[in-house]
Amino acid sequence: MKSDIFDISKDVFLDTVNAKDYIELDRVSIFYQSLTDSVLKPLKMVLLYGKPGTGKSMFLTKLHNDLSATKKIHLYKTPILDENEFYKTLAQDLLSIAYDGELNFTQFMKILNNSLSDEIPIVLLDEAQLYSNSLMEKIRLLSDTRKVKFVITLHKTDKEDLIAKEHFQTRIWETIELKNSSSSELKFYIQKKLLKANCFDAASMFQDDKVNLIYKLTKGNYRDTNKLLYTLFQIYSWYEEYTPGKINKNKISNKIIEMSAIHVGLLNA
Ligand SMILES: Nc1ncnc2c1ncn2[C@@H]1O[C@H](COP(=O)(O)OP(=O)(O)O)[C@@H](O)[C@H]1O
Ligand SMILES: [Mg+2]
Repeated sequence: MKSDIFDISKDVFLDTVNAKDYIELDRVSIFYQSLTDSVLKPLKMVLLYGKPGTGKSMFLTKLHNDLSATKKIHLYKTPILDENEFYKTLAQDLLSIAYDGELNFTQFMKILNNSLSDEIPIVLLDEAQLYSNSLMEKIRLLSDTRKVKFVITLHKTDKEDLIAKEHFQTRIWETIELKNSSSSELKFYIQKKLLKANCFDAASMFQDDKVNLIYKLTKGNYRDTNKLLYTLFQIYSWYEEYTPGKINKNKISNKIIEMSAIHVGLLNA
């Protein structure tokens, strides 16, 4: 039978990005408020940056989900690297104009400038570190028209390094850095995830000392925590199936935490 509590708990930690799985983390909610505020200011562009696994894609997805009922908002999860395709996609999504042939920057600027709209559409660009410098500069110029507002995310951690880039030097950028969680936030994250899936017994197995050990291994990175706990519950599920008497269901075993950490490469054997 493949429906034991550990098997269900395991799937809670699949590394997926869906708005319905969003958890309101304290620090993130403050950013969320400032982001929704700044989205309403015309000229500002928003730059969301941070290490991989700090929740940038989740944040954008949530924003998209929340605002799409009332605003013109578009989310591009993967970068459109071909410039022509990029402008064509924007022309289609923002202005409902379909182009068969070429659409270059100058042409697109022209139609954007001439467009009449009562509302400034918002474009969310995930993984923007993949866009070339020259396209980033053009995105900034598009933003200067005040006919479109961009929110971008970057896998970068060093603010000085970002600011050094020409296109980030203007004051139109509002920057928000997402970071790994603290250990108390991590506890909240783990328990909240399990509770949302009705895994109450599994949630109560994570006492402070267990979360502290997990925190030591993952440094509060959400993606690493997902990987670790997915493997951990996989191991538990295996024990549950073959040697059910041997596992303590009141608390997570340090040994299994460490086994999982070795398995996912967070700890050297
Ligand atoms: N606020 C959140 N609520 C629920 N899960 C989250 C949240 N932030 C991050 N996660 C989890 O962490 C994983 C990594 O987050 P993600 O947004 O993909 O990071 P990034 O884009 O910064 O690399 C996601 O798959 C998701 O499971
Ligand atoms: Mg991402």
